[in-house]
Amino acid sequence: MVRTALFLLLLNTSGCCGFGFKSCFMFYPGTGNMWSSNQNIANLTDVLSKIPDNTTKLNMSKNKINVIPPGSWSHLSGLKYLDMSQNKLAYLKGGAFRGLGVLKLLNLTRNNISHINSSSFDGLSMLQSLLLNRNKLGTISPVIFNSLPVIQHVDLSNNILQSLSCGDSGGSSTLQRLDLFSNSIRMINLSCFPALQHITLSFNPNWSYSLTCLPPTPG
Ligand SMILES: *[C@@H]1O[C@H](CO)[C@@H](O)[C@H](O)[C@H]1NC(C)=O
Ligand SMILES: *[C@@H]1O[C@H](CO)[C@@H](O)[C@H](O)[C@H]1NC(C)=O
Ligand SMILES: *[C@@H]1O[C@H](CO)[C@@H](O)[C@H](O)[C@H]1NC(C)=O
Ligand SMILES: *[C@@H]1O[C@H](CO)[C@@H](O)[C@H](O)[C@H]1NC(C)=O
Ligand SMILES: *[C@@H]1O[C@H](CO)[C@@H](O)[C@H](O)[C@H]1NC(C)=O
Ligand SMILES: *[C@@H]1O[C@H](CO)[C@@H](O)[C@H](O)[C@H]1NC(C)=O
Ligand SMILES: *[C@@H]1O[C@H](CO)[C@@H](O)[C@H](O)[C@H]1NC(C)=O
Ligand SMILES: *[C@@H]1O[C@H](CO)[C@@H](O)[C@H](O)[C@H]1NC(C)=O
Repeated sequence: MVRTALFLLLLNTSGCCGFGFKSCFMFYPGTGNMWSSNQNIANLTDVLSKIPDNTTKLNMSKNKINVIPPGSWSHLSGLKYLDMSQNKLAYLKGGAFRGLGVLKLLNLTRNNISHINSSSFDGLSMLQSLLLNRNKLGTISPVIFNSLPVIQHVDLSNNILQSLSCGDSGGSSTLQRLDLFSNSIRMINLSCFPALQHITLSFNPNWSYSLTCLPPTPG
């Protein structure tokens, strides 16, 4: 619920904190929500250290963050929603989200991500939705799903993926929805996602049904 009263905290009024840019945060009193989008933030570490420990929803959309140093979130273990869409992330390091043990939704839409380390999502044991729409992903390791035991929805639309497969390791037994709209998908091994209920595959010009493996029929 959005309260009408917003408290504005100016972290950098005329030289107070020594950043080279303006950084304002808005608290939604009593909700644990924090909004700091569109503030020209480039250095995540500087900003996160100023955010209260009990924040549950953090919106850092439309900033200029290009790297997430592992360990960044150690004091924000109560975060449930994290929006880092429309930043300048080009790759995700191993352990980039470690510490976010109750995070439910991670929005990484509209960055420039072309590489995800196979342990980038380690520790996201409650994550339900992972949004990676509009990035530059050409490959994604199915091993990332091993870090996401309750994942339900992954949006990989508008990337340049060619295939999704898992072999002996990786895949997800909880994933229900997979969006792959507008990629270059030629092959998916659906056996990797036995709980899948919905898949979006439009605008994949190289898609060929003959290469799909259907999920195993029970019994
Ligand atoms: C978070 O902690 C601050 C004090 O540090 C308190 O004023 C605020 O009400 C707390 N918010 C929530 C949602 O518990
Ligand atoms: C962010 O700022 C900290 C100092 O507050 C500095 O140690 C770190 O190198 C900076 N990170 C980047 C990516 O510039
Ligand atoms: C974050 O803010 C942007 C606008 O800057 C908005 O489009 C987006 O929906 C917000 N995200 C959340 C989770 O509220
Ligand atoms: C994710 O980010 C995009 C781009 O900022 C925004 O349009 C969308 O509403 C966000 N979705 C959620 C669920 O936060
Ligand atoms: C992934 O990150 C870990 C550190 O967290 C590092 O040891 C490993 O080499 C990285 N893997 C790749 C393929 O870059
Ligand atoms: C996106 O990342 C690539 C490296 O993978 C880099 O060359 C390019 O400048 C980045 N583009 C933007 C808009 O940040
Ligand atoms: C498809 O995934 C299943 C389950 O992980 C695996 O056993 C099988 O080898 C995969 N098939 C192909 C063609 O990759
Ligand atoms: C995908 O299809 C286009 C024609 O629509 C073709 O030019 C291209 O070589 C194909 N790419 C792959 C990886 O099969």
